[in-house]
Amino acid sequence: MNFSLMRLFVWLPTALLCLCTAVGAQTAPPTPKPFEDSIAQRSLACTHCHGAQGRAAPDGYYPRLAGKPAGYLYNQLLHFRDGRRHYGLMTQLLEPLSDGYLLEIAQYFAELDLPYPAAPPAAGTRELVERGRVLVMQGDASRQLPACVQCHGTRMTGVLPNVPGLLGLPRDYLNAQLGAWRTGKRRAHAPDCMAQLALRMSPDDIQAVSVWLASQPVPRDSKPAERLAPVAGLPVCGMAAITASATSATSATSVKTGVVR
Ligand code: HEC
Ligand code: HEC
Repeated sequence: MNFSLMRLFVWLPTALLCLCTAVGAQTAPPTPKPFEDSIAQRSLACTHCHGAQGRAAPDGYYPRLAGKPAGYLYNQLLHFRDGRRHYGLMTQLLEPLSDGYLLEIAQYFAELDLPYPAAPPAAGTRELVERGRVLVMQGDASRQLPACVQCHGTRMTGVLPNVPGLLGLPRDYLNAQLGAWRTGKRRAHAPDCMAQLALRMSPDDIQAVSVWLASQPVPRDSKPAERLAPVAGLPVCGMAAITASATSATSATSVKTGVVR
């Protein structure tokens, strides 16, 4: 990794550290630590928002990164960098980074295996919650809505390499993402299955699936499924191929910085 990229990742945590030490200066003297050049150290710029080790922040908005499929995380980093998803502060961080480096970050967070907090109780009427369960588990053939589990896995923990799990996500985050697909603010690689689906869902459907999903416990083994049984007629969804150039850039980066995963 070149020096300017390193500075980028060092900058945010250092700025925060300065702030905290200035505030705590009267009580405890700061203990300077030598800078350790590892991807865990450099990803502190990310975990400041995404929670320690990418576990999600307690406020329910900053999503979890830990343990999500690497291909999915990689696609999202490309989406933010290239303008298919929008969050200015993150885009600024990602803009200067190469595909290879984004893949390396994605693989780092995907490999973390951390427990999830307990799910909150369902925040909706019994009818709404039941409607959510039926849509997720069975879909609605009359509106050409496939069951969510057909792509996201029967255990809803996602499917390698690029389909994320649906559990352990806060209701507000789910609502916001499905709403963003409806309005075209969030996009994925073509064919963008989620955009097609979200357009067939009413605001009440979105509310129902978000309420039900957010209240479901994450199973103890929260790892994504290896593969799905193919279902006839189910669309094939777009994803970025993890290209040879991205992979070779990764190994080049790893060799240069001596990153140990
Ligand atoms: C200033 C806060 C902030 C920082 C810093 C930040 N993020 Fe984010 N990130 C967010 C928010 C907010 C979202 C959700 C945006 C949305 O609504 O789509 C997000 C979404 C994501 C997603 C998509 C998650 C998913 O499940 O779809 C990934 C991946 C991600 N961030 C990775 C990173 C990485 C890697 C870094 C460090 C280079 C980083 N973020 C730094 C706030 C931040
Ligand atoms: C045909 C396959 C397919 C079906 C059916 C499907 N999804 Fe998805 N879903 C995907 C793919 C692929 C992605 C990743 C898109 C990307 O790369 O951004 C995704 C992503 C998502 C995300 C983003 C997760 C995050 O962490 O940001 C949510 C939320 C979601 N789907 C909800 C649903 C719900 C709810 C249903 C059922 C109503 C559903 N999906 C049905 C394929 C599918």
